[in-house]
Amino acid sequence: MERLRKKIREHDYHYYVLNQPEISDAEYDQLMEQLKALEAQAPKLVTADSPTQRVGGIPSRTFEPVRHAAAMLSLENAFTEQQLDAWHQRVIKALEQQKATFVVEPKIDGVSLALTYDQGILIRAATRGDGTTGEEVTANAKTIRAIPLRLQGDFPKYMEVRGEVFMGISDFQKYNQRGSLRKEETFANPRNAAAGSLRQKDPRITAQRPLRFFTHSYGAATGKEFKTHWDFLLCCQRWGLPITEHAKRCSDFDEVQKYCRALEQKRSELPYEADGVVVKVNEIPLYENLGMTLKSPRWAIAYKFLAHQVTTRILDIIPSVGRTGVVTPVASLEPVSCAGVTISSATLHNYDEVERLKVKIGDRVMIQRAGDVIPQVVKVIESTRSGHERSVSVPSRCPVCGGTITRDAEEVAYRCINPACSAQLVRSVLHYASRVAMDIEGLGEVVAEALVEKKWIHDVADLYELKAENLRQLPLFADKKAQKLIDAIANSRDRGLARLLFGLGIRHVGERSAMDLARYFGSMDRLMKAKAEELQKVEGIGPVVAQSVEEFFKQSQSKTLIKKLAEAKVSMTQTEKGRGPQLLRGVTLVFTGELSEMTREEAEALVRQLGGVAASSLSRKTAYVVAGKTPGSKLDKAKRLGVKIINEAEFQRLIQHEGKVTRSTRLGQGT
Ligand code: IVH
Repeated sequence: MERLRKKIREHDYHYYVLNQPEISDAEYDQLMEQLKALEAQAPKLVTADSPTQRVGGIPSRTFEPVRHAAAMLSLENAFTEQQLDAWHQRVIKALEQQKATFVVEPKIDGVSLALTYDQGILIRAATRGDGTTGEEVTANAKTIRAIPLRLQGDFPKYMEVRGEVFMGISDFQKYNQRGSLRKEETFANPRNAAAGSLRQKDPRITAQRPLRFFTHSYGAATGKEFKTHWDFLLCCQRWGLPITEHAKRCSDFDEVQKYCRALEQKRSELPYEADGVVVKVNEIPLYENLGMTLKSPRWAIAYKFLAHQVTTRILDIIPSVGRTGVVTPVASLEPVSCAGVTISSATLHNYDEVERLKVKIGDRVMIQRAGDVIPQVVKVIESTRSGHERSVSVPSRCPVCGGTITRDAEEVAYRCINPACSAQLVRSVLHYASRVAMDIEGLGEVVAEALVEKKWIHDVADLYELKAENLRQLPLFADKKAQKLIDAIANSRDRGLARLLFGLGIRHVGERSAMDLARYFGSMDRLMKAKAEELQKVEGIGPVVAQSVEEFFKQSQSKTLIKKLAEAKVSMTQTEKGRGPQLLRGVTLVFTGELSEMTREEAEALVRQLGGVAASSLSRKTAYVVAGKTPGSKLDKAKRLGVKIINEAEFQRLIQHEGKVTRSTRLGQGT
């Protein structure tokens, strides 16, 4: 039995990892049958990692939540070569004199999956989820033959790798053909097929789906530090984890650009769906210098291929009013399927674009979808015109409130300038209530429209005046719902300054700038007094944002709104749960080993909340190394570099101590 298992594993390795099968599928099946027959005779000798046990798991009613040891991040996109170039320039700038090389890989359109191996045995597979917490899908992942149940060679004792589960294009087509013949479920595209198959409650169903897997990124590895991403990939391959054969090392950026162009050309020949190229800095020690944006590392970027294009007809062109009053022409389309998604409307961006494209109602047009962005109209197919097409003009009055529409000299946008315009108000309320802003559950479009229509709210501060009795007058609110919304609104009071700033929808102020401003100023009072010049001193805040913030707070409407919010007891400081801002400002910490009181990620989040930097590797900038249980090689390095090493209790004291000092100072200042 052991000999057969070993043989089968070797053939899996040749097939999935090396891409060089040594026997036919029929011969492989025969080996498997032999093993099954033997195991049936001696059930006690069946091992959990036997290839026959891929479908051993029991169907689960739910997928258990799994907290990722380190967050599963996403990538920033570059939609043009210029954007790719801009990323490269940022890398050069951040690295100063240090030279980077690159690794490029296809960006496979599948579902990401984190695999954990303990002593070389696959113990857990988890989906990405929201990046922090995913779902456990181990039983399903085990059915994917490309995923080794046990590693081979000199693998680290404990390790987590991330990769992409996907369905190859020909497998996807075959699957759908069979499905439609049998009147069974079919999928719109390979990505949905992979996602749907991985989330089956019954692993026996997943086992029937032709899923594949490629490893693409690092999660954790005890006792092993990789110098380069390339080294990481080769190690994974050696240990039995498949990597894409299209990964390539590039010694300079020219090569990166050439690869991107070449792969885009070759895109349709790839055996799987790829929607771009992931470009990664190869040297791992440089990652720390490059740092992160809010959700993605700066050491990598996704260069997205030009979108799929299809043609359809424009049924109408409708002006739509956004949060800032901008009137955008939106094309309503004859529904058409594009790269697996049905599209029935597309943006025309602005009225200059309508003119440039010379687009009319009734025209046949080419539309495209790039990544996840809204579909766009690319061009008019003039040869199919009948002569009955109608042209559109800029509306002279706001389609929602009838207010005046104007155009700023330096802008392409037309705006409704009526601040009481209900369309704008609805949009601002939705933005304010959104997850990333004040996170008011239950305040969706229908509710916001109803509140505005009833004239119960005239700005976001009015939300806090709402009463459950009033809400109950609307059929929309069954008894419990009304109270739930009131509670959700009340709970939003202490989201802190950063989210409030973002929620106010100040032009050009995104999540990141809001956070930077909140951290720097600490309170709304101080921020409101700052002139553009001072605002620009904040790291990450440029002249455009600074100008816009100063402008916003100059308006008397804004001042009134802030006053109302303050009276409604909405928190105007960045002091979440009694912790002051910037307590660890400018302090870089590195964690190694396991903590007992909290997860590594929680500790790192804490450091960041306090204004510090939680780095992944040591450098001269590191102030403390926090050593938990079974620390890795970082501890030795810290000793060598003479960096101060503290244990978990000392770390706890450090943050409490800093906390106390700052709290008393703040009291002392009378703030
Ligand atoms: S590296 C920090 N490499 O794209 C994230 N990701 O938005 C490191 N993906 O969720 C990911 N192919 O699942 C990487 N060759 C590749 C990839 C890849 C597809 C997915 C990944 C991630 C998403 C990034």
